[in-house]
Amino acid sequence: STLHSPKMKSVKALAESASLSSLPSIYSFTHNPHDEPIISDDAEDSVPIIDVSLLVSGTPEERSQVVHQLNKACSDWGCFMVINHGVPESLTKAMIESFQEFFNLPEEEKQEFHGNHVMDPIRCGTGFNPSMDKVNLWRDYLKCFTYPEFHSPNKPAGFSEIALEFSKKNREVVTVLLKAISKSLGLEESYIDKATNIELGLQILAANYYPACPEPDRAIGIPSHTDHGLLTLLVDNGISGLQILHKEKWINVNLLPNALFVHIADHLEILSNGKCKSIEHRALVNDKATRMSIALPHGPSLDTVIRPAPELVDKESHPPAYVEMTYREFLELQQTGRLRSKFG
Ligand code: SIN
Ligand code: FE2
Repeated sequence: STLHSPKMKSVKALAESASLSSLPSIYSFTHNPHDEPIISDDAEDSVPIIDVSLLVSGTPEERSQVVHQLNKACSDWGCFMVINHGVPESLTKAMIESFQEFFNLPEEEKQEFHGNHVMDPIRCGTGFNPSMDKVNLWRDYLKCFTYPEFHSPNKPAGFSEIALEFSKKNREVVTVLLKAISKSLGLEESYIDKATNIELGLQILAANYYPACPEPDRAIGIPSHTDHGLLTLLVDNGISGLQILHKEKWINVNLLPNALFVHIADHLEILSNGKCKSIEHRALVNDKATRMSIALPHGPSLDTVIRPAPELVDKESHPPAYVEMTYREFLELQQTGRLRSKFG
């Protein structure tokens, strides 16, 4: 079955058609009344900032301090920003530009990469997935599986080389973070690596393209969701739109210059038996400028069964709270709308 109609026009092409002055009704999104109370950007407590370089070259005291900060960030927030992460700013810039060039390709050339299954290693398209989404999303995307096997479109020129380097550098950050998060949970440093068979862990490089929208308040880029996988790293082109749900309020996320945003995702929540919280987030659109984000979900190996770590389960006070299944099963159930919940 075809989940994404290959005939569907990209939002980019739609937004650029001269006649578009109002939102076509198929994009009209009913915002939930509980979505309203958006607290301001200067919320007294803000997203934790983690200096990753200290995990690599800090003193033992500095390292244990960062591990402690991670423990709080994972349980109280479900997200954090990382600085001094070692992904060169110039590389991130080049990656954003290459994605922009990809989206600028003629529609027919992009069609060649039009996938329709969650396991397609290269997939471009536009919202939506009829079994999941109730409206069309104001967003086009390109997703590539970049690890354990590297896939990328063969155009535009130079895209593959930049994507390979960018995905490697980002995976290095995840490697350091997962060891420190393991420790922050009171587990051995390589616990998460082993439990998820991280040597074969799936990495996806995904770009979201949100053109300026004539009626942003009536549309949505991506509705509220949590990510699958362990950790998602995210950067954007400096145009804001990402919001996270914190203490039942939506907060705008404005990334510090050259910082990476990190989402705790479902499989880290499952593995930690709920100690780490996977963060609800969404992407809004605006009427001024095109927003682009690059998200890199990092997950377990596809065929590893993920279950709560027995060390974090206590039959009385912390019973195992999640269903056991492989990452592949999870993704397939999720894509076809059959995943009732990660809680079983
Ligand atoms: C996402 O949830 O994958 C994207 C969020 C964003 O565009 O900031
Ligand atoms: Fe997401």
